[in-house]
Amino acid sequence: MRIVLFTGKGGVGKSTVAAGTAALAAAGGLRTLVISTDAAHSLADAYGAAATGRGAEPTEVAPGLFLQQVDAQLRFEQSWADIQRYLLSVLDAVGMDPVAAEEMTVIPGAEEVLALLELRQHARSGRWDVIVVDCAPTAETLRLLALPEALGWYLERLLPIQRRLVKALRPVLNRAAGVPMPGDAVFDAITRLHGELDDVHALLSGADASVRLVLTPEQVVLAEARRAYTSLCLFGYRVDGVVANRVFPDGDSDPWRAGWVAAQADVLREVAQSFGGLPVWTSEYQPAEPVGVAALTALATDLYDGADPLAVPTGDGPFRVTRGESGAVVHLALPFVTRAEVDLARNGDELVMTVGSYRRLMTLPPGLARLRVAGAGVVEGELRVRFAEPDPVATGKESR
Ligand SMILES: Nc1ncnc2c1ncn2[C@@H]1O[C@H](COP(=O)(O)OP(=O)(O)O)[C@@H](O)[C@H]1O
Ligand SMILES: [Mg+2]
Repeated sequence: MRIVLFTGKGGVGKSTVAAGTAALAAAGGLRTLVISTDAAHSLADAYGAAATGRGAEPTEVAPGLFLQQVDAQLRFEQSWADIQRYLLSVLDAVGMDPVAAEEMTVIPGAEEVLALLELRQHARSGRWDVIVVDCAPTAETLRLLALPEALGWYLERLLPIQRRLVKALRPVLNRAAGVPMPGDAVFDAITRLHGELDDVHALLSGADASVRLVLTPEQVVLAEARRAYTSLCLFGYRVDGVVANRVFPDGDSDPWRAGWVAAQADVLREVAQSFGGLPVWTSEYQPAEPVGVAALTALATDLYDGADPLAVPTGDGPFRVTRGESGAVVHLALPFVTRAEVDLARNGDELVMTVGSYRRLMTLPPGLARLRVAGAGVVEGELRVRFAEPDPVATGKESR
């Protein structure tokens, strides 16, 4: 089962392109679900469908094409509210280490968590050949996609600590420190949520999932798309294409149009250079809003221009490990950054990577955790962290 996510700056055409891609997939006979994680649910509007897709079940808007919009109001799960309240109160009450405390900022809204859980349920249902995800604008999407790993990381640590605490200190802490004690239901809900978020992360960072960046050929939009590309790579997601939407067609031009055509051509050249190696699909500025299944299918047909819209990306994902005689190297694709812009720290069996305002705590693959970091550099858009055998002297000291 294939999962394709679309993200980009607000208003560039994410919903339009997601809806079009899904319509094209369904027209090709695939059982297709298009799901929105954007609170500004506009998929139903794009299809011009009477159905909103907001019920408990997806609504069919064309043969084989189903629409689902996650509605927190309708599907609010009480357990998440409990968990969230509990997490926040714990954060408030106990002194967590600074890294953990910073991670707290990723605690997301119920709507985002529900969207992920909903996506997982559909992905595991066996009901679909393809799921197209119409994401919220870039920043929210990144928050969403960073969530499974970050929250999982947090829950993993919180759970055993709290279990022990509760056992030993429930009577004392309840009064003295004001640490709120969760009931068993909260523990169970947290444990279940943890497992499900792990699964979402596995699905979305897996070989059958990819993210597409939608942009319009304008400088500010391109700048945001470049940053999004870097951050998506940081979090381990595979970007497999760029959509340049609302490109003005060349033609008999008045000065206004000629100006736009020239300006867009400049940015499009930069797009081609920026995302070297990725396909750039272009879609013209239509003479009218592309609304309705037929118009969207036509737009997507033009866009992919004969290429398979669901081709599984080939090549390495953004992350790989090479091993040699004397250690190993972790390679992480990180386009557009210099070494100085990457902050790297080691925290036990984790590598803490920070780029701008985004931070990833990556659990090191087995075998690497016992090695020491021997150096790091950014080469050809790739962060390379070298790991070497532990210093024998240091090891000797530790074991003494
Ligand atoms: N290629 C295009 N030509 C003309 N109008 C477009 C095109 N792509 C999108 N639109 C219109 O632009 C508006 C914003 O598109 P939308 O897909 O909702 O953006 P987003 O989901 O990124 O916020 C909508 O009215 C849509 O119909
Ligand atoms: Mg939208």
